[in-house]
Amino acid sequence: MKIHKPCILVIHGPNLNLLGKREPDIYGKLTLNEIDNMLMAKAEKLGIGVECVQSNYEGVIVDAIQQAEGRYDCIIINAAAFTHYSIAIRDALAAVSVPGIEVHLSNIYKREQFRHTSVISAVVYGQISGFGVDSYLLALEAAARIVGSKS
Ligand code: DQA
Repeated sequence: MKIHKPCILVIHGPNLNLLGKREPDIYGKLTLNEIDNMLMAKAEKLGIGVECVQSNYEGVIVDAIQQAEGRYDCIIINAAAFTHYSIAIRDALAAVSVPGIEVHLSNIYKREQFRHTSVISAVVYGQISGFGVDSYLLALEAAARIVGSKS
């Protein structure tokens, strides 16, 4: 019998490729590559797979969400600035049956008013915001539990 190993898709939105040098007081000093490596190490411990993608383009993120159907067991998404206004990303997350978890490095509710609105939070399982890289690592733990409870 072949046992399906759950796999999680992590999507990083615009400007997150600049992590490490982008406003380090807000987003920390880790690069995106270092965050992805931490996610992969944690996934191995949790016995799940993880794949990470980054794009600065809304349509590429919409495609990635659509293509996750049937391929991934959970989507962890930091939609970055798109969080606050992309109805296309919101609709894509609502269209697939794959559960989503929204993450933010910073606490978006402590920052400018325009960041207090997330158009995607109503269509995901939950949101983790404000813990730096731990937002992603906590989301991965939550994802492992969600997929574990389904199998
Ligand atoms: C962010 C918060 C967003 O408001 C911002 O546009 C980002 C990153 C975060 O991870 O804290 O690019 O999603």
